[in-house]
Amino acid sequence: MSRAGVTHLLKGLSLLWLCEVALVSGSILWEVPTAPFTSPVNNTVKLLWEPQCQAQLRHLQDGARITALIPPKLEGSWVSSRCEVRPGPEYLTRSYTFYSSRQFKALQFYYRDSGCREPAYSLLVRGRLRLRQASWVTRGGTEAEPHLHTVSVVFHSAAALHGLAARLPPLCHAQGERGWVPGRPYELHSPRARGSACLEPLGFSMTELSLLRVETQHHARGAIVQELFLGDVPTDWSQRAHYRPTGYQRPLQNSMHHVHPCPVCARVYRSTEQRPPVLPLAPTMSLSLGGRWVSQGCESRPAVLFLTRLFTFDEATRSWEGLYQHYSDPACRQPTFAVRAWGHYALGGPSARVPGAWELVFRVTRAGVRALDPPTARLLNASRPGRCGGAGLWAVGAEQDVTPTGGCGALGIRLPHKEYELFRAELDHRQRPLLFTGERPTDGSSPDRPHKRPTSFQAPLIRCAPETPPPQRHGRGDGPSSSAVSGLRQNGGSVLLSLLSGWYILAVH
Ligand SMILES: *[C@@H]1O[C@H](CO)[C@@H](O)[C@H](O)[C@H]1NC(C)=O
Ligand SMILES: *[C@@H]1O[C@H](CO)[C@@H](O)[C@H](O)[C@H]1NC(C)=O
Repeated sequence: MSRAGVTHLLKGLSLLWLCEVALVSGSILWEVPTAPFTSPVNNTVKLLWEPQCQAQLRHLQDGARITALIPPKLEGSWVSSRCEVRPGPEYLTRSYTFYSSRQFKALQFYYRDSGCREPAYSLLVRGRLRLRQASWVTRGGTEAEPHLHTVSVVFHSAAALHGLAARLPPLCHAQGERGWVPGRPYELHSPRARGSACLEPLGFSMTELSLLRVETQHHARGAIVQELFLGDVPTDWSQRAHYRPTGYQRPLQNSMHHVHPCPVCARVYRSTEQRPPVLPLAPTMSLSLGGRWVSQGCESRPAVLFLTRLFTFDEATRSWEGLYQHYSDPACRQPTFAVRAWGHYALGGPSARVPGAWELVFRVTRAGVRALDPPTARLLNASRPGRCGGAGLWAVGAEQDVTPTGGCGALGIRLPHKEYELFRAELDHRQRPLLFTGERPTDGSSPDRPHKRPTSFQAPLIRCAPETPPPQRHGRGDGPSSSAVSGLRQNGGSVLLSLLSGWYILAVH
């Protein structure tokens, strides 16, 4: 590779963005997306969280501790760190290996259960990946083109075999169903045979490899953690084969540089298509939402949104407040606007479709919007009267109540608004409580009807430290916040939100 990766700190500055693009393209600087917002960062407005929530953010205010190369260095093995849930729902773990020859080998292990303990079948995908250019759409991402050579399936039980066989057209049963034996690899796709005819009925596609990002976290004492972000999987099953990702799935961990401890990483890494990983039994968690929950880092959403979320739940009154802080860059350093929303929620009980998760309904009744850079202030200021707060009254940094105008048309906020939600609680690798909120429909619509309720999840939120933390309790490696865990367990069943649909519209810059 002629353009040896030059590490640079990921800063959201437009100049650097141009450099990144130049790095990828070699000499030719093609038409780049103009950096949307070029105002200098206002450091005053960055610090919106309270100190106890601030401490939970891995790196947000300290972007220097995360680096991301463009193009990314992929060589090596990357594995799931937990049982993954895809829209459907589908439960899987992944183990992907990239070679310097640009070949790759991707193992996907599918399960019958939401704990990834009963393997159904595994797919072994071999192919070649061509890195192309910095993404025009998703800043900080690199576009790539996967070419599949072979895709093989191995069934792990007779039930899985029959279940899957029923979904495949006769063409794919070339050896007859009796030719399929659990444990034996069977080629579903090869350069010679069958094209994608046997893959699409399975909802299989490797479009996730067309958008990539590798983040390196630099921890104390020289420890590093590397994560591979691959393109998101659309929530609409029918879009899968031809979807162009603009957001990411939860990242895979580098097998050499992963979070510690990671028992799942080790199991997935050692597995083969014949011997799929069986994950350790996770403790059942009944959750209590009460308290504050915050993003662990800069989150990305399909259609170009970078954001952090902070939620407060009051279980006694079943009320919630959400603060959504939006940014124009993948390191969440250039704030564009913040939305504060209030409302109530109702608990619907355990989900039948996604065991271990909970159904909820959220109502948003009030919202306030704050422009955090001049372009956004101008955009909101240009709203027609009655469409988004006080037209002509917008100024950077000043919050406006948009409840009287029924929301804010420019940001796609409608009030009052109702959403059908799916939440799930888990513990992270350090036994701290995590809250997963439902994935939003990829098309930017709102899950405002029961059939649109999510079946998969966004990046998890972490509970803010207790309100009265012991003085100077330092050390990121400290154990579970026991009060938070017991708080989680003490009252059964309740959880949090993700809410608020359409304000991705603004993200079009
Ligand atoms: C908003 O509009 C008003 C009236 O048109 C104008 O005086 C003000 O400068 C504008 N503010 C911004 C931030 O564009
Ligand atoms: C940054 O924002 C704060 C609060 O919104 C404001 O008081 C301050 O003047 C701004 N600073 C700059 C340099 O624009």
